[in-house]
Amino acid sequence: TTKAYENIQVEVLQDNVGLIRLHRPKALNALSDALFADLIHAAKEFEQNDAIGCMVVTGSTKAFAAGADISEMKDRTFDHTYSKNMFSEWADITKLGKPIIAAVNGFCLGGGCELAMMCDFILAGDKAKFGQPEINLGIIPGAGGTQRLTRAIGKSKAMYLCLTGEMIDAETAYQNGLVAKIFPADDLVDEAVKVAHTIAGKGRMSVMMAKEAVNASQEISLQEGLRLERRFFQSLFATHDQKEGMKAFLEKRTPAFTNK
Ligand code: HXC
Repeated sequence: TTKAYENIQVEVLQDNVGLIRLHRPKALNALSDALFADLIHAAKEFEQNDAIGCMVVTGSTKAFAAGADISEMKDRTFDHTYSKNMFSEWADITKLGKPIIAAVNGFCLGGGCELAMMCDFILAGDKAKFGQPEINLGIIPGAGGTQRLTRAIGKSKAMYLCLTGEMIDAETAYQNGLVAKIFPADDLVDEAVKVAHTIAGKGRMSVMMAKEAVNASQEISLQEGLRLERRFFQSLFATHDQKEGMKAFLEKRTPAFTNK
């Protein structure tokens, strides 16, 4: 990537992993409009870059992100938020075809938690804290906190978090299905990059179809989802990677996927 960003740091690791670090240390990575624009720009560049097979978005040890930027939001009026459809552009993160992993250390609150939930799965450092504290500000979550959190951990627990604004720790988030795996905080980013590298080494089309099919399960009926899955599954038999994957298995060797 060529662009210099003000609010994020971008790196390509292990040749095929795109790492995006949110970087507004003075504000615990509060998601200002400028930060989010940088994030979307970088993610779209990785999406277009054929060398990249998986992305990781992370923050600092102290905070993944402490929410949308409160100082930026505080004086906004209803007519502004509504007519500009405030924060609707955040959904661009969910339109990526390649997988994006949230690697969460520290505070993951409000819009930060919503961003993490827009990613395909969450890996957490053991000191991470999750919550939807918007209620303490006289507002509610606005980018999926009432919807994705409810699907992730169930109605009663999501309702509790959205109404009290309390935080849960990494272990609780893991036990309740919000988080896929926990790592020691200091190892988290390395471990997330390893997971991303593993995924990036699979056949690209099977990865993207698996992602699309799992995500579809959150939106459509079981019958529709099963039909979509079966069609994706069948279509993968048109790929070279399916032939290679099965041949390699039978020859007891590692497959050399070519993303074709
Ligand atoms: C702007 C923020 C911020 C935020 C922290 N800061 N969170 N600035 N927006 N969301 C700033 C603080 O003002 C402070 O700046 C600096 O970061 C360090 O924060 P402290 O509060 O001093 O740190 P600490 O005492 O360790 O407390 C950490 C914290 C607390 C518990 C995470 O910062 C906190 O409660 N933050 C707000 C969390 C929140 O309400 N998030 C939801 C936002 S609403 P100075 O200049 O004083 O050093 C939202 C809506 C989403 O996200 C809608 C999406 C569509």
